[in-house]
Amino acid sequence: IPACDVLPDRQAAETEFARRIAAKVRRKPDMVLGLATGNSMIGVYRVLVAMHRKEGLSFAAATSFNLDEYCGLPAGHPASFASYMREHFFAHVDMPPGSAHLPDENACADYEAAIAKTGIDLQILGIGRNGHIGFNEPGAPVTSRTRVVELAAATRTANQRDFPAGEAVPARAVTMGIATILAARSILLLATGPAKAEALAAALEGPVTPQNPASFLRLHADVTVICDRDAATLL
Ligand code: GLP
Repeated sequence: IPACDVLPDRQAAETEFARRIAAKVRRKPDMVLGLATGNSMIGVYRVLVAMHRKEGLSFAAATSFNLDEYCGLPAGHPASFASYMREHFFAHVDMPPGSAHLPDENACADYEAAIAKTGIDLQILGIGRNGHIGFNEPGAPVTSRTRVVELAAATRTANQRDFPAGEAVPARAVTMGIATILAARSILLLATGPAKAEALAAALEGPVTPQNPASFLRLHADVTVICDRDAATLL
């Protein structure tokens, strides 16, 4: 059963989440990080950037692999996860550009091979309203690896706000699989806000099932969940 730490509010949860990442990076500067995007993580990156500036937290020796990316967006598209990562993290810290990796829809096997060389020390995760992790939507097999997937209608609706008016959310994305995620040595999941309460409760207390991909995290021995009170109401 994953350890679950409930913080009073969203900001406290984001700060605690960032502190846990920072503690691991300080202990092992050449840490291989599995990184996530989404609204929930913006505050986490803000705290990490502040720690870099004020406390000298360094990512110079770190490597990163992002969880997922949309298919078919041109380079530099504002809603791409590459742009998100640059805007919220990479542009503000000292990680060498060559050390930061995002999946490419045309090179899924290469991404898996690159990850397999070192493994991921710490995978950070958000959770979708339907229990998705990365872009592993309900139905994702526990054996899945990095691949191209169809996005659930609910996910496309939830992420519409990141796209310019009148522009559709791509129908497909590339994502690490459940097996890729479970191979990480340690996992930290962040859930904030009332919209995540149902998915979080199902993940932690419901059956382990592909219908809630986050429930597969219970197959891993080192998972910590950080959430706020709003996300914890159904636990
Ligand atoms: C997104 C991402 C996930 C993220 C989740 C929750 O679409 N692919 O990695 O964890 O959905 O997003 P948010 O934090 O914006 O609620």
